[in-house]
Amino acid sequence: MKARRIIIFDTTLRDGEQCPGASMNLREKLEVARQLARLRVDVIEAGFPVISDGDFQAVQAVAREVRGPTIAGLARCVAKDIDAAAAAVKPAGRRGRIHVFLATSKIHREFKLGKAQDEILRLAVEGVRRARSYIEDVEFSPEDGSRTEPEFLVQVCRAVVAAGATTVNIPDTVGWAMPDQFGELIQRLHDEVPEFSSGSAVISVHCHNDLGLAVANSLAAVRHGARQVECTVNGIGERAGNAALEEIAMALKTRKDFFAACACGINTREIVKSSRLVSRMSSLLVQRNKAVVGENAFAHASGIHQDGVLKKRECYEIMNPVSVGWGKSQLPLTKHSGHAALAARLKHLGFRLSDSDVDAIFKRFKEIGDKKKFVYDDDLTALVGGHITEVPETWSLDYLHVTSGNQTVPTATVRLKRLQGKKPPELLQEAGIGDGPVDAALKAIDRLTQTRGRLLEYTLRAVSQGKDALGEVSVKVKFADRDLVPGKGASTDVIEASARAYLNAVNRYLFCGQSKRAHSAQP
Ligand code: KIV
Ligand code: ZN
Repeated sequence: MKARRIIIFDTTLRDGEQCPGASMNLREKLEVARQLARLRVDVIEAGFPVISDGDFQAVQAVAREVRGPTIAGLARCVAKDIDAAAAAVKPAGRRGRIHVFLATSKIHREFKLGKAQDEILRLAVEGVRRARSYIEDVEFSPEDGSRTEPEFLVQVCRAVVAAGATTVNIPDTVGWAMPDQFGELIQRLHDEVPEFSSGSAVISVHCHNDLGLAVANSLAAVRHGARQVECTVNGIGERAGNAALEEIAMALKTRKDFFAACACGINTREIVKSSRLVSRMSSLLVQRNKAVVGENAFAHASGIHQDGVLKKRECYEIMNPVSVGWGKSQLPLTKHSGHAALAARLKHLGFRLSDSDVDAIFKRFKEIGDKKKFVYDDDLTALVGGHITEVPETWSLDYLHVTSGNQTVPTATVRLKRLQGKKPPELLQEAGIGDGPVDAALKAIDRLTQTRGRLLEYTLRAVSQGKDALGEVSVKVKFADRDLVPGKGASTDVIEASARAYLNAVNRYLFCGQSKRAHSAQP
């Protein structure tokens, strides 16, 4: 039997990035998009162009630079949104898609939109027609589709397909659906919308994980005729997240018997690499016991299991860890490794970096190589992450000394370099005391930079194995007039990593202030 091809629509850069604290800058988004292309997703939803200049530019850059997948931009059923999405995906040419959405459920119609069914139908059709005036590939989503009256949903699907939508996506926006019921809904749409049953329009699903059922609901829909699944790497997304791409792909592959004639084109060997990159770029940690990509996903603790795996792996492993990209790491680099070796390894890891980027990373690599015996691929990924999240520095760390202990008042001496355009940098020094050495160092930084940040989130994790592992600190800092500003820093010394992460947030804050001032000074 010929396999039914399931289209994997990745929304890590749109719904995933909507997750609080997950925002990524342009370079981070581009790195993720390139990795998604290597993972061979079919569609990358790169953002919501009308939302901000940053989102517009990110979608446009992904459309211009990433080859292979279709590039989609999201839009409400509003002319200015659709126009912005069309402009942003234009560089992708025939691989561009506009994804238009409008809520259809009774609760959204009555309380959010204040519109009756016929008006919703009219707006949906107008939105799709406008999108089609720009591009052939148009997707429509009836938001809160799973809670929409099924008869009305059938009507909406028929109308938007007649208006030119090539894909209709049924979102379980609030994660309310149950697998059997959702499967039945998809089957009904499949049977009652002639273009779905004939295959001339694609039926898609987009499930949220509020009850932990996003993957189960998506797979139930596949069994009942869905041809596209919308998902995110590591399942990141609004609230409890979206269906996890790696779980969908591996379920289809591992249980081919159950999903008889369905397959997707994901290059599963790129899964772990994608998961780690997204985790690092979004600063969202992956739980240890997460299916497929968690540290424990293939770790057998009990003696009985270990014995069984040694005798025959399949006794306790339904997937081969190598098939999803575990255990592929190469020999670590050391301080003796040269510039060429580093450049080659970074290329092998999939990063596209300029010579000056590699030079800057080489400098940090040498500093770290002096402190730890081996520099692993994960350490390098952290260094790249630290480098590409950097904004032009106003302040850089020159010297840090801390005293701390259970009978000492924690004290930090910090010397910062203030970089001031063409003038020579200025060195300024301060001391601070605090509840602990991190608090003391951050207080000294506050005094030097005269920015009073409130540290609202702080995460420390070891990037690789060993007592000399690199520690990576991610922070979220609240400055008076700004939303949370993220920062990242890595070092073998966790106090230094903390100071670097905090300073990274301060520099972002100051840089953003400057660009806002420059922007508002424009005519
Ligand atoms: O969850 C949702 O309904 C969405 C739509 C925009 C597809 O993200
Ligand atoms: Zn969503």
